[in-house]
Order: sequence, then structure tokens, then C-alpha cells
Amino acid sequence: MNYKRMPIEIESPEEKGYGTITHNLAESSVRDIYLKDVNVDLTDVLLFYGEHKGLLKLREAIKEDSKVLTADDVLVTSGAATALFVVATSMLSSKDHLVVIRPNYGTNLETPRALNCQMSIIDMSFENNFDIDVEAISKAIQPNTRLISVTNPHNPSGKLYDESTINALIALAEKNNCHLLVDETYRDLNFQTELKPYVAELSDKVISVSSVSKSYGAPGIRIGWIISRDKKIMHDFLAGKEQICLCNSVVDEEIAYALLNNKVEIIKNNHAHILTNFQYLKEWFAKQPYLEWVEPKAGVVCFPRLKQGYTVDAEKLYDTLYEKHGTIVGPGHWFEQDKTYMRIGFGYPGLEELKEGLANLEKCLKELATEVRP
Ligand SMILES: Cc1ncc(COP(=O)(O)O)c(C=O)c1O
Repeated sequence: MNYKRMPIEIESPEEKGYGTITHNLAESSVRDIYLKDVNVDLTDVLLFYGEHKGLLKLREAIKEDSKVLTADDVLVTSGAATALFVVATSMLSSKDHLVVIRPNYGTNLETPRALNCQMSIIDMSFENNFDIDVEAISKAIQPNTRLISVTNPHNPSGKLYDESTINALIALAEKNNCHLLVDETYRDLNFQTELKPYVAELSDKVISVSSVSKSYGAPGIRIGWIISRDKKIMHDFLAGKEQICLCNSVVDEEIAYALLNNKVEIIKNNHAHILTNFQYLKEWFAKQPYLEWVEPKAGVVCFPRLKQGYTVDAEKLYDTLYEKHGTIVGPGHWFEQDKTYMRIGFGYPGLEELKEGLANLEKCLKELATEVRP
């Protein structure tokens, strides 16, 4: 393995220090919650080695009311990050080929790189509304392709890919005898649409990944999961998990169960907050002159860019925003894109924090962006 630290982690708010940030528009989750706000009593939790697949009642809760999935189709992991790591390390070696979209959450690109596997990166573009180019994915598939990797809802654009795109990707995986990995970490943040079943329900060639980090504001308990109906790969994933950590923290599992047990209410409240902020964000984008965006459909992030016709010293922009105004966004290079793109998180801040953070951003753009003469 050839591990490399990613800019998104080195420059993350937690590494910068939360105390140095007053307006945090860099997060891709709802606000973090306190343990005291979770309806759970941990005094009777036995601190033993838990079941390796994960606490049974938690796996039952994760699969929801699915008539297709069973608790054995679920493997609990330490966050979606470990889920993605287990999938990549189990399925990809230097002899194997991966087709993966970009921009994307860093791990979906960086772990395959660390494994030195063969990769075809399919770039999505602002001009093309960050749509997935199924044709390009199809053309990139090789005889040794083991995995097609997408993220839906998408990070960083907030796009939600429709059924026809997902079905076309499943058909590609089935036809080419490889697997489709769908990173569904933002799944429950469907604040404008109905919640769809996990994609893994639809075919045993699909691997779904998710967690409690983004939708429940509980990234600190490090609970995520892999879902697949393919028994053979789930066996390999369990072997991988056992070699990494044997089992999860039993304390974390109990807290995650309590959250999922109260899912309807938690998600309802979070959606209401996101929607309020989203309405403001839409008004702001309609009025400010410097940035253009592809309007997000789900999740809590969008990925605007500096309008054509302007130029800016992006380093200076982000430095000034942070140092003068305590405000941060996620710069484009976190996603291997130009620095004049930025991810804005609108689910984490309160409404006032969002309003002020956006005003700070506009102030800095006004000061530093210049019009390019034709
Ligand atoms: C698309 C995506 N997948 C996975 C993760 C990792 O999340 P977790 O906290 O569950 O490990 C993130 C975190 O930003 C993400 O954006």
C-alpha cells in the first residue's frame, strides 16, 4: 500500500481546529449532535467483542423494511470510509481495473491509487451538469474490470442520479460480470425527493455503502456499513474487516442503533433545517454576481465555480476568507478540480451562520475577483 494524505483531510475543519472557524461552510453533513441528545442508556452495554458482522439489531435497522435484504446482507464498518477501504482492498490489486467517476469523495480515488490498481477515471463536468456519462463508463470497461464506482447522491455536486442512470450502470455491471459500487453516504439527505431503496436491493452485482455520519450528524461514532446480496464478496469483506479490527466499538453500535431507531423524527427535523437553508442559498445564488452553480437535488453540498469572465487568486481568496472572516468552504483541489470551484456545505451551519458566511464569501470575491477583458 502506498498511503498519501489527501488535501481534503489535511485541510479539514477538524485538522484546522474548530475553534478557529466561526462560519463553517466546508462540512458535508448536518450539525454534529451531542451524546446527551441521543435517546440511549449505555450503562448496561457489555464491553465484549461484538458480533463480527455487526450488532444484529443494528443490521436489522440498517436494512430497514426491505423485503429483499436480510441482516446478513449488511456488514457494519467504522464509518463509510472503512467500508470503502474494505471494498477496495478486497476487490482491487495491480492486476485489476476500476472505472471511477470524478469529482468524487477522495477515498474513492485515493485508496485504489494506494493499491496501484489500473484505473479509468471518468471526469464529469459543470457544463454537463455533473451528469454521469454512462457511455464513457461503458467504453472504459476492460476484461479485468472488477468495479465501477459512483457516488449517489453525489459529493461534491449534490446531484441525485435518476433511476434510468442507475439501472444502466447495473446493466453494465451485470453484462460485464463486475460489481457496481454505489457510495450512498448522503442517501437519507433526500430533502426534496422520496427515499429510494438501497441500490444493492436491485442486483447482487451492486455494493451499497452508507453511514450515520452525514444524515445524523454523528461522524464521531464511526459507524457505517456495506450492503450486498453477493454472499461471496460479503464473505471477503468480513474477512477484511476481521483483519482490520475484528468488530466495531460496541458502544458506537448501540448509539447508532438508537439513532436509526429514531430515524423518522431525526431525519424529518434535519430535512426541515436543510430546506430552510437551501431556500436562502437559492436566493443568494440568484443575486450574487460572481459564482454559478448546478443546483443540488439532495445532500447538503453544492459545487459552484467562479463565473466565466472573472479571474481570482484562489489561494488568496480562501486565505482571506479564513484569516479575516473565520469562514471556510471546500476548495476545488479537495476534489482534484480547479481551485476556482468550491464546495459549499449548507446543512451544517445554522441559518445565521450560513447567511453571514455567504456574505463574507461575497465580500472577499468583491475585493479579489477581477473581470477579464475580452
Ligand atoms: C461520499 C462519501 N463517502 C464516504 C464518506 C466517509 O464518511 P464516514 O464518516 O461515514 O466515514 C464521506 C465523507 O465525507 C463522503 O462524502
